[in-house]
Amino acid sequence: MAPPRSIDGTLLKQGAEAHVYKSTFILPSVPCLIKVRPTKPYRHAILDTRLTKHRCVSEARLLNRCRSMGVLCPAVYFVDEKRGEIIMEWIEGPSVRDFLHDYVDVGCDFGNGGNNRGSNDEGIQLDPLMENIGKTIGKLHDIDIIHGDLTTSNLMLKNRENLAITSNSQEGSRLLTGIATSPSDFDVVLIDFGLGQVSNSDEDKAVDLYVLERAFLSTHPRATRLFNIILDSYKKNCLGSAVVLRRLQEVRLRGRKKSMVG
Ligand SMILES: Nc1ncnc2c1ncn2[C@@H]1O[C@H](COP(=O)(O)OP(=O)(O)O)[C@@H](O)[C@H]1O
Ligand SMILES: [Mg+2]
Repeated sequence: MAPPRSIDGTLLKQGAEAHVYKSTFILPSVPCLIKVRPTKPYRHAILDTRLTKHRCVSEARLLNRCRSMGVLCPAVYFVDEKRGEIIMEWIEGPSVRDFLHDYVDVGCDFGNGGNNRGSNDEGIQLDPLMENIGKTIGKLHDIDIIHGDLTTSNLMLKNRENLAITSNSQEGSRLLTGIATSPSDFDVVLIDFGLGQVSNSDEDKAVDLYVLERAFLSTHPRATRLFNIILDSYKKNCLGSAVVLRRLQEVRLRGRKKSMVG
């Protein structure tokens, strides 16, 4: 394993598996994200090197595969497998999690009843965003990629040039200024393929959806209606959706039984 190097950038997150930094790539005007898998001192050194390398290469490959098949995700700029580092495109824009959170803060009714049915007073439509998410996941599954950690934090909204879904993260709170009003105004970008894999198994795809469902409903308890829009859009946009959605019913039942048992 190469000796650790000090990274010229701002540490954004220090997770168990990875540390992520915001930095620049080659030119000061090109922001990037550096994802580093630190060595684990408690693991056997050779095993640790192999695992780090494997996970780093696997994540970079999945990102490249997605991009080449038209599923939006960060472009990979550089991989240093020995150091366990990936340098990738910086995605400017809030995560879906922050976006929805801000929505709740501004008093949006998430749509179980209520008159605004997924839009708040300013006329912001959430439905198109949900459709976009369903379509993106449908595409991902059609190319046989399982994300492995589909949470609303791992779905980001990408700024289109002339438009602003911008967030200003300060002390954990994000302010949105200038908000997209139509589905064509923003792109949903998938990030964090650290637990991803290539698989054509309906079970794996159903579990992917189930993970998103749990994450979605626990972050936004009133979002049942919105999650159903994701599933509807998945159904329309994913070739193999019928079998996967049937499988999802079984996965849900298993999940429920498990939580009853303890
Ligand atoms: N390409 C990117 N552009 C901008 N922010 C990113 C990018 N990738 C990750 N992030 C930010 O860093 C956080 C952690 O990165 P992630 O790849 O999800 O690692 P982890 O496995 O620790 O969750 C994300 O939740 C997101 O806020
Ligand atoms: Mg993540």
